[in-house]
Amino acid sequence: MTTASPRRTFAIISHPDAGKTTLTEKLLLKGGAIHLAGEVKARGQARRARSDWMKIEQQRGISVTSSVMTFERQGITFNLLDTPGHEDFSEDTYRTLTAVDSAIMVIDAARGIEAQTRKLFEVCRLRSVPIITFINKVDREGLSPFALLDEIADKLALDVSPRMWPIGMGGTYEGLHRIGDATAALPTAVQEEVELAQVGYPDFDVEAYQHGDLTPVFFGSALREYGVDDLIDAIATHAPPPHALPAEPAPVEPEHPEVTGFVFKVQANMDPNHRDRIAFMRLVSGTFRRGMKLTPTGHGKPIAIHSPILFFAQQRELADEAYPGDIIGIPNHGTLRVGDTLSERADVRFTGLPNFAPEILRRVALKDPTKTKQLRKALDDMAEEGVTQVFYPEIGSNWIIGVVGQLQLDVLLSRLDAEYKVAAGLEPSPYDTARWISASDPAKLKAFVDLNKGAMAKDRDGNPVFLAKSAWEVGYVADRYPDVTFAATRER
Ligand code: G4P
Repeated sequence: MTTASPRRTFAIISHPDAGKTTLTEKLLLKGGAIHLAGEVKARGQARRARSDWMKIEQQRGISVTSSVMTFERQGITFNLLDTPGHEDFSEDTYRTLTAVDSAIMVIDAARGIEAQTRKLFEVCRLRSVPIITFINKVDREGLSPFALLDEIADKLALDVSPRMWPIGMGGTYEGLHRIGDATAALPTAVQEEVELAQVGYPDFDVEAYQHGDLTPVFFGSALREYGVDDLIDAIATHAPPPHALPAEPAPVEPEHPEVTGFVFKVQANMDPNHRDRIAFMRLVSGTFRRGMKLTPTGHGKPIAIHSPILFFAQQRELADEAYPGDIIGIPNHGTLRVGDTLSERADVRFTGLPNFAPEILRRVALKDPTKTKQLRKALDDMAEEGVTQVFYPEIGSNWIIGVVGQLQLDVLLSRLDAEYKVAAGLEPSPYDTARWISASDPAKLKAFVDLNKGAMAKDRDGNPVFLAKSAWEVGYVADRYPDVTFAATRER
């Protein structure tokens, strides 16, 4: 019997251009998963070339798809989950961050904390995801290490504990000093800096780090491979192994003997000729074996998983076994949806994967009325994948789609055309926002729905949704109906 090597399942969060791609490449190189720097990007381009809608990515020079990369080092299996950097895809990113045990925050030494770093950090904080900080690009002139540390501490309200110290930056860079080592050999100025840093910042406390209260800080250069080994060592030594995850009826420990996991992402279109989808499942407990039958909680029959996929950086490999912390790709034709729990006995359900209330609502205008069925199928499919949300009004036939960011609308139209051969346009909708409604007393809910039929819709799963013209209207209506709950997120 094979025993599992320790797992470290993590993501890299950063603002665009801070160096996430370069660092990913270096981590994979060091883990032996790729052989030439540049392959991550090159492979990305080859993959993009395969499908039409991904042209949007090329045009905009951004990555809208997440992927999973696995590499091994020092007897440890690292699962690196890529998160899209573009802010329009924060919902997708959020879900990916529900599937990791820790994160690396990459910061550009010349720019400090930037908008997207901050947003992503807040998502990690919501779930107490522990963070190791890597201050990148010390081969160039940057802000002083003290300024950078203070900025992280102030802007993120987080304790910082420097673990390495740059001996100069840019043209004066001479190497890295491990905090705690003897400083005798250092130039006097650096010696003083290190001594100041040692008294000025908290010592590293692994518990505070694992609770998400303190971040150990490393300096380096992804491009020149400075400090990358120290970073990997830190993940290996301190980053938490797979942990228990919130679920009903009770949290599930990785040691739980039965296989359980949840789908945090569904990606269509790996091959445009087959309408196949890959559901990305984070394994939470048990030893998964190929061919095993798992049941999606709440809907559906057990499905036998004959061709699961593990994501090694070079190729997608067929998985025979997988362990807690691993990500498995499950090919399917639309049965599996984001937020689904899969388990051997269907008696558990993971919680905490939200849908966000959309910030942009549009009416879908079909150009050819004979394509209604295809349009409905396409909208349902994309809602399942979590690309967009769809709302079917109680009155009338103008379906409404909701997104968190503009880019999702472009993806929708492009895929409707390329994949579903449906010509459609988007029109302004009279609504500005949506809320999922519920009430402990079904009669009160029904009374509300009956009185507000004109503003009621159903989401993809048939849940009642109130469409409002403004956030103000939501507040106004909520005040008048204290027995009805208006939720801006809906847990799947
Ligand atoms: P991202 O994924 O976070 O968006 O960043 P990416 O790795 O693509 O890096 C953004 C730019 O920063 C790239 O330069 C990259 O070469 C550079 N870079 C990354 N790490 C370092 C570093 O440690 N030092 C220095 N000096 N530069 C670094 P580019 O010119 O935009 O792209 P490219 O043409 O070099 O690929």
